[in-house]
Amino acid sequence: MALVTTKEMFKKAYDGGYAIGAFNINNMEIIQAITEACEELRSPVILQVSAGARKYAKHEYLMALAQAAVKDTGIDLALHLDHGADFEICKSCIDGGFTSVMIDGSKYPFEENIALTKKVVEYAHAHGVVVEGELGKLAGVEDDVKVSSDDAMYTNPDEVEEFVSKTGVDSLAIAIGTSHGAYKFKGEPKLRFDILEEISRRLPYFPIVLHGASSVIPELVEEINSCGGNLSGAKGVPEELLRKAATSAVCKINIDSDIRLAMTAGIRRVLKAQPEVFDPRTYLTVARDEVRKMVKHKIKNVLGSENKL
Ligand code: G3H
Ligand code: 13P
Ligand code: ZN
Repeated sequence: MALVTTKEMFKKAYDGGYAIGAFNINNMEIIQAITEACEELRSPVILQVSAGARKYAKHEYLMALAQAAVKDTGIDLALHLDHGADFEICKSCIDGGFTSVMIDGSKYPFEENIALTKKVVEYAHAHGVVVEGELGKLAGVEDDVKVSSDDAMYTNPDEVEEFVSKTGVDSLAIAIGTSHGAYKFKGEPKLRFDILEEISRRLPYFPIVLHGASSVIPELVEEINSCGGNLSGAKGVPEELLRKAATSAVCKINIDSDIRLAMTAGIRRVLKAQPEVFDPRTYLTVARDEVRKMVKHKIKNVLGSENKL
């Protein structure tokens, strides 16, 4: 068993009409919870690392923890850089043992995005690493981008064939209405399945990626709020919409906020009920259990990836 690329995973997911969960990792408890859940349900999985996670936990620790998880669970894992902002961070992760990187050039004009993505693809492929590119702009972490009209945020299907053929990317993240964080929709949640369908028609047999795919489960938000938190107005993507996406060309679904919410709800619950607790293992054990439960829930209710190892 080893750290592997997403190539085989995506091929099987495309053929099988399910998606692979890409969960963000930041520490040992999160890595253990995700990988134990996947071991139990025999589900393939991608562990993804943001620049912030690398800053918080350091590359070497996350790398060593991912390798430890492979040994402990006996399952293959893909280790992926989430939202690589430039060539340098992608190169550093490729040189440092990641099996997949995302180069997020979506904030640049089309031609610049192509040039940057192509440069990363050339370096990555020469080192046996796969690359995810992005076309279209999500709100949230990418909200420094000024978008004039609602429509301008969605991926333009007219651009996808040229982008994929000129860059050589292995998968493509698209914007169809999801966004990052716990506040995704002010009104009714809506995903543009018509755009997704048009993109998959133009890119036959090509893996599509959905970012910003947490559902911000209302019970968790209520629990956090009842234990002293304040997440009023938080709203995510309904799980039935993501389930529908997982049966299409969408092969990778990114989930971070739901893990954060699960951990936070567990920790707040313990500290509210037992204010005398000061051993971090007491609340981190509960937090880890909550993340494990959340990942199993996603595998069964959103991804459809149970028993696909
Ligand atoms: O899409 C962004 C992920 O949720 C990672 O967030 O940059 O705060 O680690 P982060
Ligand atoms: P969420 O904020 O919906 O969890 O999205 C995570 C993500 O897209 C990581 O790249
Ligand atoms: Zn993202």
